[in-house]
Amino acid sequence: MRKAVCPGSFDPITNGHIDVIERASGLFDQVVIAVLANSSKTGLFSIDERLVLAKDAISHIPNVTVDTWSGLLVDYCKANNIGAIIKGLRAVSDFDYELQMAQMNLQLKGVDTLLMATKPAYSFLSSSLVREIARYGGDVSALVPVGVLKELKARSTHGGKGN
Ligand code: PNS
Repeated sequence: MRKAVCPGSFDPITNGHIDVIERASGLFDQVVIAVLANSSKTGLFSIDERLVLAKDAISHIPNVTVDTWSGLLVDYCKANNIGAIIKGLRAVSDFDYELQMAQMNLQLKGVDTLLMATKPAYSFLSSSLVREIARYGGDVSALVPVGVLKELKARSTHGGKGN
């Protein structure tokens, strides 16, 4: 069985992630979404909340599951017999960062990374921009699944003068 992992912070999962995951699910027998901590980012949603939101968003794809792991991604791959890491590539600006991680993961445990071009329609989309726009009451309904939209609306702080 050919297994791949789509790792990320998923804070929160967006339609851009889902596009990559859907296409990866057509290339592999099983795809695992691994919700991981990125030590250089602070989160809006807890890991448990991200897991729930991701599970809800991919429930229509039979060969995709959602998991989490608190160690190195390559150790997760080895522990779960996963041969490939898939990451979405939105633009050239993603490339340096993704290439560095791909080469490090290859060096660490011989795990290969496949960089999948995102649909151009999602090349501007990031979880961090979604968080910021939603925080100030902007419309992100075309960018995230309905479950995520509901949670973002519940946390929106727009409307006041603030400090
Ligand atoms: O969505 P992101 O934040 O770009 O994803 C980055 C992520 C979570 C995949 C990366 O930070 C990661 O793999 N974290 C797990 C710990 C790890 O293996 N770090 C070494 C990466 S070379």
